[in-house]
Amino acid sequence: MQAVILAGGKATRMRPLTLHTPKPIVPIVGRPFLAYTLDMLRRAHVREVTLALSYQPQKIEDMFGDGSHSGVRLRYIVESLPLGTAGAVRNAREHIDTRAIVLNGDILTDVNLTAVLTAHRESGAAATIVLAPVDNPRAYGVVETDETGRVTHFLEKPAADQELPTNNVNAGIYVIEPEVLTYMPAGETVTFEYDLFPALLEQGVHVQSFTAGGYWTDIGTPRRFLRANLDVLAGRLGPTNVPVRETVERADPKAEIDALSWLDPSVTVKAGAQIVNSVIEDNCVIEERALIENAVIRRASRVGQSATVRDSVIGQSTHVGRFSVVSGAAIGDKSTVTDYSQLGEMR
Ligand code: GDD
Ligand code: MG
Repeated sequence: MQAVILAGGKATRMRPLTLHTPKPIVPIVGRPFLAYTLDMLRRAHVREVTLALSYQPQKIEDMFGDGSHSGVRLRYIVESLPLGTAGAVRNAREHIDTRAIVLNGDILTDVNLTAVLTAHRESGAAATIVLAPVDNPRAYGVVETDETGRVTHFLEKPAADQELPTNNVNAGIYVIEPEVLTYMPAGETVTFEYDLFPALLEQGVHVQSFTAGGYWTDIGTPRRFLRANLDVLAGRLGPTNVPVRETVERADPKAEIDALSWLDPSVTVKAGAQIVNSVIEDNCVIEERALIENAVIRRASRVGQSATVRDSVIGQSTHVGRFSVVSGAAIGDKSTVTDYSQLGEMR
């Protein structure tokens, strides 16, 4: 069984976190995001994985190489210009002459792919779309089905005035038979969402749905990225994804680190600092009496004395100055927040 991971988007909605780091390798609780996806594929005995890339491909390849550390065989296909989600799969077609799993490269989920594959096989469909219920379906592809789960309608990013019959959306996971690609509409860029799925349905091709229970999120904005980190800390991604918490040697005995937080063992935490429900990556320094709460601090950053970072993501090699307050913010890499700044929380 083969899989294609679509990871060629520019991740503009996740800026500034993706300016220097492509979305697939932005870490969630210290692990590159893609590692979670590869784990999930391996659990379903998928060993052949093609990454369809376009934006900063080298950084991804440098990190994952041939996949041997992740227990899969990884191939990279780089589009000089993004071909669209379906165009990217067609472009990789020499690797998908059989049934394949296609995944968006920015979803974090514990869906059981083995169950998806079984359901796909039993239904005899040409394609199966995994669905997830969400609160704000307009930000996604809304998928209507009949009572047997057969897909009847696919509507990507419905407009505000369009009535929504369901809050089930495309979870960004498909199983496709090779014949599906023969229905590709012409065009330089072709997407599953706007082009191919509507074309299949128009022509009466059998497209089935599979409703995922369990955890599912798209990490595509700083807010969702932060939420995904906190969900993993809380163990919401299931028993196979509980973070391993190691001893932080350089934590002062007078610092308080709660049991939910995850810190890389290289982090320094000084006296009186308090870390609550947060992720702190390698080589960060948290100075005296700083408070970090519901936050992600990316690598090599420093949070100054008595500063507060709350409900925020701080990029790499960034300095949050003394006595400043950062609340509800996403700060990019290599930034300086001047001492006494009040970001998101003015007195
Ligand atoms: N290789 C390649 N080439 N990958 C692409 C291209 C392309 O031209 N365009 C997008 N991708 C990748 C992105 O990198 C991302 O991993 C995935 O395809 C989906 O693109 P997004 O830009 O994140 O789309 P979205 O989140 O707005 O919507 C999609 O995902 C939702 C679920 O998270 C759609 O598939 C929706 O229908 C779906 O509900
Ligand atoms: Mg997305």
